[in-house]
Amino acid sequence: MAQQQDKGRINGFSKLGKQQRRQWLLDAFLAGRTTEEFRYFDAGSQDLQQVLDNFSENTVANFPLPFGVAPNVVINGTTYVVPMVIEESSVVAAASSAAKYWATRGGFRAEVIATEKLGQVHFRWSGRPERRAALLPALEQRLYAATAGLTARMEARGGGVRGLSWKHLPAVHPQCYQLLVRFGTADSMGANFINTILEAYAGELELWAATSEELTADERELEIIMAILSNHTPNCVVRAAVSCPIEAMNIPGAGVDAADFVRRFQLAVDIARQDPYRAVTHNKGVMNGIDAVVLATGNDFRAVEAAVHAFAAEDGQYRSLSRCRVVDEVFHFELTVPLALGTVGGLTRLHPLADLALDLLGRPNAEELMCIAAVTGLAQNFAALRSLVTTGIQRGHMKMHLQNILSSLEATVPERQQTTDFFNGRTVSHHGVRQYLEKLREEMERIEG
Ligand code: MEV
Repeated sequence: MAQQQDKGRINGFSKLGKQQRRQWLLDAFLAGRTTEEFRYFDAGSQDLQQVLDNFSENTVANFPLPFGVAPNVVINGTTYVVPMVIEESSVVAAASSAAKYWATRGGFRAEVIATEKLGQVHFRWSGRPERRAALLPALEQRLYAATAGLTARMEARGGGVRGLSWKHLPAVHPQCYQLLVRFGTADSMGANFINTILEAYAGELELWAATSEELTADERELEIIMAILSNHTPNCVVRAAVSCPIEAMNIPGAGVDAADFVRRFQLAVDIARQDPYRAVTHNKGVMNGIDAVVLATGNDFRAVEAAVHAFAAEDGQYRSLSRCRVVDEVFHFELTVPLALGTVGGLTRLHPLADLALDLLGRPNAEELMCIAAVTGLAQNFAALRSLVTTGIQRGHMKMHLQNILSSLEATVPERQQTTDFFNGRTVSHHGVRQYLEKLREEMERIEG
């Protein structure tokens, strides 16, 4: 163990070229493997590889994920083909199937409720909290004036700083304060813009404390702690919904009638609103759809995940993000989520597949992309619950699982067909499939002589 640790330490890894980094990893950790195993995933062109390498640091390989599409997604009357990047089998199939189901029942509706983002400057200040009301108006003007050059372009695009408040955080420390700044960031996710403005505000705050004539001597001590956007975006929210008369909610092959299906579906959603253990899994299903679109379009899925789960726990208990109601014999299912997404800036143009994904969607603006991602989350959630309250999730899942196992065993097309037929209605396991395939291959060898 000690030997392994010494061998595994290095200074200046980042300064090595990619081949050297690979070689060092092979020598220190990957006995028996070859550099080919990294090279296999290299991009076809030097230019593309350069683009990918520029996204991150210490790169040694690319990590490909499947890029699929869900067709027939009708949102507010427009039909989209939704790009989805996800490694889990059944997700794209489920989204596609839900999209098709709702396409013949009026489609999805989606609306953006608000698009405000937040950022914070945290600081320690020697003044009294009561002084804030008198000092804030001039300070605010000073901050805006000092950053006018930085905000002008964003303002021309319809964004900018929308206002700020000055909070006291005595629970942290009697001298702890925060500037909470509200932003509009137009079609960009806006992280760079927000952080640039916040850091400029931090600098200006220090200057203000040192020089402002409004301040008394004992109000001049100000220490910046940090300036950073907040990924909590409860005011950057979109709602997606479907509705349909119960009588039209038939689920072919599920063995339940429409009314029974709706009753069971509503109970499943209500369980997820009340029980956090179920809510987390329920919301995971929602995020299967949302994350796949977020990734495909080059957006920040960690930011979205963090925001969504904070939102799900808004009233102090973690709950399902979707809700279901039946009113006057009409089924209503809706999802409300915070989604801080961008269609310009960041990776959206830099990653060639994100660029292609946005082209597939007809170059939506940020609000349209919020609608598309939320609808995909709702579609995914609908498909998961539809399976859960009828056939169970494993039936569909296992079909996909079987195909993955067959791929890993390098099954030929006829082998695939025969194995799929055999496992129809039987329990799928890696071991079972391998055994069956081995037998099949032995049999074939025997026949072929
Ligand atoms: C699996 O990735 C997602 C589900 O567990 C979601 C759910 O249970 O609602 C099927």
